[in-house]
Amino acid sequence: MKIGIYGGAFDPFHNGHLSMIRGALASKKVDRVIVIPTGMPPFKPARKVTLSPYRYYMVKAALKDEPNCEVSDIEQVFGEPSYTVTTLKNLRKKKVVSEKDELFLMCGSDILFEFESWYKPKEILEQATLLCALRPGIDEGQARNEASHLEEVFDTKVKFFKIEGVEVASSKLRSDGKFDNVPEAVKTFIETHGLYCEDSPLVHVSDEMYKTLMKHCFTLFHEMSGKRLLHSINVCVLATRYAIRFGADPDKCALAALLHDCAKELPEDEQIALSAKIIHGYIPGKQILHSPAGAVYAKEHYGVEDQEVLDAIQFHTIGREVMTMTDKIVYLADKVEPARHYDDLTEIRRLAETDLDGALIECYCAIRESFGAKGQEIHEDTKKSLKYLLEHRK
Ligand SMILES: [Fe+2]
Ligand SMILES: [Fe+2]
Repeated sequence: MKIGIYGGAFDPFHNGHLSMIRGALASKKVDRVIVIPTGMPPFKPARKVTLSPYRYYMVKAALKDEPNCEVSDIEQVFGEPSYTVTTLKNLRKKKVVSEKDELFLMCGSDILFEFESWYKPKEILEQATLLCALRPGIDEGQARNEASHLEEVFDTKVKFFKIEGVEVASSKLRSDGKFDNVPEAVKTFIETHGLYCEDSPLVHVSDEMYKTLMKHCFTLFHEMSGKRLLHSINVCVLATRYAIRFGADPDKCALAALLHDCAKELPEDEQIALSAKIIHGYIPGKQILHSPAGAVYAKEHYGVEDQEVLDAIQFHTIGREVMTMTDKIVYLADKVEPARHYDDLTEIRRLAETDLDGALIECYCAIRESFGAKGQEIHEDTKKSLKYLLEHRK
């Protein structure tokens, strides 16, 4: 089979990307396209690029119903920069494609002019043939000249295909903030997760913590569903924003928030066993179990030593009488991150602009009300926490 390999940051994925995929398939130069969102792009400072799970799931959403096309997570690993040559080799090694498949590296004509300076270009061409898109308006003669040059230097063949003229640049979409030239699913994804906000809170965590967060992101990617991972990252970003706003420690809040649900998808017996290491004499209820289990799992599996971080994970479902700043922030961010829309969260979110305790009180009261409507009572620890807050509110 002839397979087009289409890699990129896709930050965000837009209609120009879509026209590349459709154009390649329509040209019949390839039978199938594998789209590969980059993990950590080697040539861009990592923090300027949207976290890779967001980009991966955004592309998945955009191409959900696209025929002859799949999205690969082969670059969603931590540690090494994702060079094209490594990815191409890994596709075969991990049997995403077979030895018999012929690979075509899809690119725009601009790539032809910089290809020689890429990492190990000769080895890339041993794995794949360049398949270059010709957009209306580009200087086709110049592109073909450059292709001939490459053919000579590397003893290869460069193939071409024509595409519709969709002129979009991700950087322009980001700076405009309008996102009108993206598939509908991408627009919804950006809105749901509050992407491309001006304040980019994660800029404020330390370099070391940023690296740690990245590393955990990739581990979580392979350990939990997309929905839960995106929720966890949303909580992480929002908790960091609150930390800066209310003078808490952004590193602690970001870490606790990212890992707060880390045990939630483990088998129940495993959660019970983990929880039993810190909760003695009883098994916490089903809704709460993953919080103590998560605190233990974060320590044992993710190497978290900071007790304040572990506590914030342990108390993120029901709170505790005296909450630290980190506890409060993680608790609140979990309840009101942008993808949450189970209730009207407007008032809690509004309070959280200026008044952390006020927002938390409002949140507890909303939960008490919704429990009350079902004839249930909130947890004893939540009651204690609410009482304490009302008495000591800042
Ligand atoms: Fe949770
Ligand atoms: Fe959560």
